[in-house]
Amino acid sequence: ILENAEVVADWAARFVMQRINEFAPGPGRPFVLGLPTGGTPLGMYRRLIDFYREGRLSFRHVVTFNMDEYVGLPRDHPESYHFYMWNEFFKHIDIEPGNAHVLDGNASDLPAECARFELLMREAGGVNLFVGGIGPDGHIAFNEPGSSLVSRTRVKTLAYDTLEANKRFFGNDITKVPRQALTVGVGTVMDAQEVMILITGAHKSLALAKAVEEGVNHMWTVSAFQQHPQTLFVCDEDATLEL
Ligand code: GLP
Repeated sequence: ILENAEVVADWAARFVMQRINEFAPGPGRPFVLGLPTGGTPLGMYRRLIDFYREGRLSFRHVVTFNMDEYVGLPRDHPESYHFYMWNEFFKHIDIEPGNAHVLDGNASDLPAECARFELLMREAGGVNLFVGGIGPDGHIAFNEPGSSLVSRTRVKTLAYDTLEANKRFFGNDITKVPRQALTVGVGTVMDAQEVMILITGAHKSLALAKAVEEGVNHMWTVSAFQQHPQTLFVCDEDATLEL
């Protein structure tokens, strides 16, 4: 539990930097990092860019996999997660473009795209650190309430609460929010060696309480991480209101 969102962002970025820097990469053995989008991780990305510019961190031996992507938004749409990742992070660091993987929500065969993503992750050696965020309804990635806790990357229809929460990015018009997304499964994230989940703001406080103080429950999919051996929740004071 940290003071506020800014401290969470700085702490999370330092944690990621430490994990990358202590890793000994080799040929065919990159550091594999899972990444989220949304408002919460923006501060972390800004700090990571600072560390890169200060020469304290390089992404040359890092391969990334993003958690999710909307279905049917053009890649260059400002709200596509592809656009977000390049704009907010990848274009500012030294990652090899081919090492930054974001699901293609415009693929002609979406299940095949999901299978390809899972295969790429396995071929990269599995995820060392998955950084995640949650929705106010306790979803991780786009694993909406009721998702299987052993799910893999797949197409998901978004819950009404998620459309509501994300309409702010689409001119406050809920009809503009895509109805479906591609998302890694809960099981996909559970396979990572280490998971770090960032939670800030009072509007996430019920979800945090459900995540850590009640039983594992597929209606609050983030609660699955109680059964992960190495998961860290990094949150601000506001998010702890219901604890
Ligand atoms: C979306 C994304 C999630 C993200 C969540 C929270 O639903 N699919 O991966 O964690 O938003 O977003 P924010 O950080 O903006 O609250």
